[in-house]
Amino acid sequence: MSLYIAEDADALAEEAADLIAQRLTQAGPDIGLAGGGTPRATYRRLATRTLPWGDVHAWTTDERHVPTTHNDSNAGMAQRALFDHVPGHLHAVPWHESADTAAAEYERMLSGLLPGGPDGTAPTTVVLGLGDDGHTASLFPASTALEVTDRDFVATTVPHHGTRLTATFALLGRARCTVFLVSGAHKAAILARIIDGDTGLPASRVAREACEVVWLVDRDAARLL
Ligand code: 6PG
Repeated sequence: MSLYIAEDADALAEEAADLIAQRLTQAGPDIGLAGGGTPRATYRRLATRTLPWGDVHAWTTDERHVPTTHNDSNAGMAQRALFDHVPGHLHAVPWHESADTAAAEYERMLSGLLPGGPDGTAPTTVVLGLGDDGHTASLFPASTALEVTDRDFVATTVPHHGTRLTATFALLGRARCTVFLVSGAHKAAILARIIDGDTGLPASRVAREACEVVWLVDRDAARLL
């Protein structure tokens, strides 16, 4: 586990963009992208980086059950923040009235997109945020997706968050490198719980099961470490 503390949110976004650009160039051109404000700030910086974008294939670690044109769409956010500005490829979750159908179709797409590994597909790099309740992607503490062991991408209904589509622990656990981006004083308590070893949170389990995990946080988020 690596932990890097950036001076502030802007520095975090810059350093995260540098790390992601390096991994896309040197480790492999596939990348899983989460939604959220902290990842969005990094994606905007990443758009200024020069790299072989034509080789890059991005997927979304989770999505709200909305079309990509909807303002809440994570793929729509990544498109506006990054892929409107670089010639990379963003593979969005397909829209279906049935979230289960959309998740199953996306799961099949991912199986053809992502590199193979000893236990199935092995994403090269996954970028995740952290919610102040310990969720990551759309693996929320109350989500039915937490119990899924035989799928890589599923639909789940989350109290107060509606229907979501998310990578499961199984898929995220096969990623070769998992980068968590955490910014702001309001994340300090949950980040400290995770770094101090609390194993009961979804983000704790993703970090624990990751092949390599990098925490990129800013000073406000790190103030209780
Ligand atoms: C989503 C994200 C979610 C996000 C965290 C952190 O669909 O919203 O995938 O997991 O990454 O909630 O978001 P912030 O960085 O905005 O706090």
